[in-house]
Amino acid sequence: MLAVMFVWSKLSSVKWMDAWEERFSGNPALNLVITTIPGQVRVRVEIYAEKKKDVAAVQKEWGGSVREVKQQNWAALSKEPMPSISVRGKLVVVSARSAKDIAKEKKANVGKEVVAIPADMAFGTGHHATTATVLRMLVDAAKELEGQKWTMADLGCGSGILAIAAVKLGSTKTWGCDFDPKAVLVSKENAERNGTAKIRFTEVDVLEWEPKEQWDLVAANIFVTVLEEAFPQIVRSVKPGGFIMASGILKSQAPPCLKVAESCGIRWDRVVTKGKWLSAMGRRVG
Ligand SMILES: C[S@@+](CC[C@H](N)C(=O)[O-])C[C@H]1O[C@@H](n2cnc3c(N)ncnc32)[C@H](O)[C@@H]1O
Repeated sequence: MLAVMFVWSKLSSVKWMDAWEERFSGNPALNLVITTIPGQVRVRVEIYAEKKKDVAAVQKEWGGSVREVKQQNWAALSKEPMPSISVRGKLVVVSARSAKDIAKEKKANVGKEVVAIPADMAFGTGHHATTATVLRMLVDAAKELEGQKWTMADLGCGSGILAIAAVKLGSTKTWGCDFDPKAVLVSKENAERNGTAKIRFTEVDVLEWEPKEQWDLVAANIFVTVLEEAFPQIVRSVKPGGFIMASGILKSQAPPCLKVAESCGIRWDRVVTKGKWLSAMGRRVG
């Protein structure tokens, strides 16, 4: 039997996008998807949840409509192709799904690495400010690591986008994890789709994680509350001198969160804000 999910949806003005993100980020039961509608100043805001009561509570507060979907039909929910995103002229994220469409994108983007992430699921397509910023940081770090063998861990992998991008940029050993089994599954599918099936993805809750190895680069685009609590183990998983990228942090909540990482041995070198979101890149001292 197909699993069902419940979707709440509502049309909203573009100017409220940040407010929707702020409202629903950090709640693992609610997967927020905001889709721009070509030629319109409105966006479609959707929330996917496994339990009807979760979307019913959103509807009670914010209006809109609720419907039931079979997971198999998710692909049909998001028909508009997402615009591709170019990252520092080095990487391009496209929403192509099939091998044929990916081949077309590769032809159209000669000289750039193509990362294909179909936009039908709620796990990060590169359009979110936090993902886009971490992708830029990844490209910059890969440049510094050029000529070396380097490894990467993607904590809270979502669609697997950061891990896949890291392999395309030169990571020789890559691991991603998420506490949501659907995210792990989608990441594996996307890795296959991108010819990067060597990436290992596993179901891990970083709050209960005891790292067994260290990585040259660790990206954690999770949520401020998770980062703050998990920084001790996240930092232990970074090789001394290695890179760390932390994102998913609301600007207003950033200072104490970044301080926790500093107390664990991180020196932040770059802090980038985009809308309400903050991302930071640094190194483990040592
Ligand atoms: C903001 S999304 C980022 C997805 C993707 N890495 C990206 O950059 O677009 C955060 C991801 O972290 C996962 N996550 C949240 N809390 C977690 C935890 N405690 N352990 C592991 N994964 C977690 C969520 O399921 C979600 O897929």
